Amino acid sequence: MLGRLNHVAIAVPDLEKASAVYRDMLGARLSQRQELPEHGVTVVFIELPNTKIELLEPLGADSPIAAFLAKNADGAIHHICYEVDDILAARDRLKSEGARVLGSGEPRIGAHGKPVLFLHPKDFCGTLVELEQI
Ligand code: CO
Repeated sequence: MLGRLNHVAIAVPDLEKASAVYRDMLGARLSQRQELPEHGVTVVFIELPNTKIELLEPLGADSPIAAFLAKNADGAIHHICYEVDDILAARDRLKSEGARVLGSGEPRIGAHGKPVLFLHPKDFCGTLVELEQI
C-alpha cells in the first residue's frame, strides 16, 4: 500500500528564519512560500534529491499546529507523508484495521494539489502520518 516517502514536515515558529537555515547554512533549494488558509499553515518546501522537507508555520488564529508549537517552541518534526496510489482504498483498509483517520475522514487537497488524509499518531508509533495520492 505504501509508496515513496513524499516529505517530512517540520513545524517552525518562524518560517523566514527556518528557510534561511536551510538555504544559507545547508545550501538547500527552497520553493516559494505558499499560504494554505484552509489548512491553517504557510509552507516552504526544501527540495532534496530523494524527497522533500516541508517547513510549516502557523497561519491564522486556529492553526492546527499552534498547540504543537506551544509544546515545541524551537520547532520539531510534525508529520511524515507517504505516497499511496489510491487514497480511498488506503483509507478504507486502514479503517477496517481499526486505525483512526483524522477530520471528516474525507481527503482534502494538500499543498501539492493532491488529495491527502491524516492518520492518528497513537495508531502509528507516535507519529502523525499523512497519506498523499500521487
Ligand atoms: Co505534509
